[in-house]
Amino acid sequence: MTMTIAVAGKGGTGKTTFAALLIKYIRSRNLGYILAIDGDPSANLNLVLGMDLPDTIGHIREDTLAQISRGRYDTSIPKADFFEYRINEALAEGDRIDLIAMGRPEGPGCYCAANSILRTVIDRLGNQYDFVVIDNEAGLEHISRQTTRDVDKLFIVTDMTMRGIAAAGHIVRLIKELGTRVHETYLVINRAESDIPPLMREEIARLGLNLIGTLPQDRTITEFDLTGRPLIEISEESPIYKAVTEIAAKAGIR
Ligand SMILES: Nc1ncnc2c1ncn2[C@@H]1O[C@H](COP(=O)(O)OP(=O)(O)OP(=O)(O)O)[C@@H](O)[C@H]1O
Ligand SMILES: [Mg+2]
Repeated sequence: MTMTIAVAGKGGTGKTTFAALLIKYIRSRNLGYILAIDGDPSANLNLVLGMDLPDTIGHIREDTLAQISRGRYDTSIPKADFFEYRINEALAEGDRIDLIAMGRPEGPGCYCAANSILRTVIDRLGNQYDFVVIDNEAGLEHISRQTTRDVDKLFIVTDMTMRGIAAAGHIVRLIKELGTRVHETYLVINRAESDIPPLMREEIARLGLNLIGTLPQDRTITEFDLTGRPLIEISEESPIYKAVTEIAAKAGIR
């Protein structure tokens, strides 16, 4: 059984950072093989994982549709098989981690059929792994656009502000409206410098958010970012990594 984990939240709150550290945790505990999905159009999960991206799904979709419109597509091959074959061209393979990036969303024109085939193909691909970890762009619509798979664990990352908490509450409402099946939702407060103020705790409870833990502001992350070093190489002794391991264990990722 594949465990699907998604990370969502407002822009710049630390989604990619959290996703990368979670992937590091799964790998260092030898929990299984991981498919990482970068749902951000300006793909950057590859940088924190230190992997080269051969291509993106968005580009393959454009290219395939162009081939079809030019009559260069062999109609004896079912489209799903063709996409499946081509998606392998976009798969970056690493040490127990494979990565696929969604790339740019569709431009004008109807891509519904292609998207629905792609969803099936990505779902099928995900089934070959023990874990699928999806790093989303800010917002959430794409969770249902890109995959039909149920999300076992959704982490909403926020900064330590009331507005951030409100945005997290909004994401939870949106998920319900979109009908995405999410089994467990957790709130992660990033860059927590102090204890959570009582008023904030009250708001978290009022919105029915499940606070699972906090991540400290970490200077090593800034250094890695500055020097372009992949975050996945951060020391297992670093406070932020330790915080992620505690959160992951608490969420039942083992
Ligand atoms: N706890 C932290 N301590 C120090 N720096 C951090 C921390 N969390 C995130 N950062 C830095 O903040 C920036 C934004 O983080 P990140 O890219 O993970 O956010 P994001 O939510 O994925 O952003 P986007 O919405 O653009 O995808 C990055 O430069 C990252 O290195
Ligand atoms: Mg990001």
